[in-house]
Amino acid sequence: MWVGEQAALRETVERVADCNVPGKPASSGGKRPIARRTRVWPDGQGCRLPATKSGPACDRGAIAVPRLTVIDAIELARPDDWHVHLRDGELLRAVVGHTARQFGRAIVMPNLRPAVVTVADALAYRDRILGALAPGVDFQPLMTLYLTPGTTTADVEAAVRAPHVHAIKFYPAGATTHAEAGVPDVLACSQVLRAMQHHGLPLLCHGESIDPHVDVFDREATFVRETLPRLIDAYPGLRIVLEHVTTAEGVAAVEAAPENVAATITAHHLAYDRNAMFAGGLRPHMYCLPVLKRAHHRAELVRAATSGSSKFFLGTDSAPHLRGAKEASCGCAGIFTAHAALEFYAGTFASVGALDRLEQFASRAGAEFYGLPVASERVRLGREAWTVPAKYDVGDGELVPLGAGESLPWRLLV
Ligand code: DOR
Ligand code: ZN
Repeated sequence: MWVGEQAALRETVERVADCNVPGKPASSGGKRPIARRTRVWPDGQGCRLPATKSGPACDRGAIAVPRLTVIDAIELARPDDWHVHLRDGELLRAVVGHTARQFGRAIVMPNLRPAVVTVADALAYRDRILGALAPGVDFQPLMTLYLTPGTTTADVEAAVRAPHVHAIKFYPAGATTHAEAGVPDVLACSQVLRAMQHHGLPLLCHGESIDPHVDVFDREATFVRETLPRLIDAYPGLRIVLEHVTTAEGVAAVEAAPENVAATITAHHLAYDRNAMFAGGLRPHMYCLPVLKRAHHRAELVRAATSGSSKFFLGTDSAPHLRGAKEASCGCAGIFTAHAALEFYAGTFASVGALDRLEQFASRAGAEFYGLPVASERVRLGREAWTVPAKYDVGDGELVPLGAGESLPWRLLV
């Protein structure tokens, strides 16, 4: 059971207890079952429940008694994934359907080998992604270019003209999987950054220090302290996304920054803290970069994601690696989450009684940041337990998904 679900159960039990206190509305009849109405639960300030067909209004609204309502279904505009790794070839064909089932659009990361550096590379990759989809599947890959020391202002201008290219991704050289083509110092890319600022092309940052003396758990906080403020000061109009933010420091920096600075948050960083990597032994399938952090960082991520802020939006960083590459003496960083991303996000939002904010986070804030329309199509998630497969086959190999073999309480209803 993942951390968020434990919290959800604890909270449910506490609120059930609240509901059973004497003096509740007559309809409660003492020990009453959890209400199955689609309403958010109160925030502790008092009961806000109006009358519905299935029950009367709370008669104690004025005297602040919380009362339980569990949401058992939610409908929202079709969400987008603003950060995903789809890979190429056989692995692309194995994973793209998962993302396309969950999301209408996705910002596709360019860290292939060789990297997606030019618009021509991006358009060819886009064609391969579309070609890997089953016939009739409606999904839009939104392409990105990989920032290298050789990237020019002409590349930026070509990207701006290309309708399917939406951003440039900055990897600090060597910071993570396939990041060796990245740049050692992003601030040295002044002409490119000026052109991006001028044209409004977003810079997507893998925000980690590559100073070898910095502890792996401090790499994001160091980047946020030493590099991000200089980037924001030098290019005040540059649209920046701090990708997969994982720390309280990162959240605070984004909140304090102007509107043009935002962040994506993954499902796994919301659901787990770093203990998950060591639960009963070493868990390679829980290893990603930036690495999972302490519980108090997770709490800040949950607060930010569920705040309703337009600065934080969904980006799974779903990053598939075959089992053999994960269960190795030097295993790859990356967690595959595309099979159940929305279910994990819904579980986290439910755990803090914030399902009414999921649409803002999953379907609206990112579209607004990228200047794209919110989807008119809608999807439904239901509280309906299901078991995540232990693995997905990929040719002769296997992919181990997040939550393999575990039961999840939420399900995307398609
Ligand atoms: O865990 C990660 N995996 N972090 C990244 O930044 C890259 C990704 C990948 O491509 O595997
Ligand atoms: Zn990534």
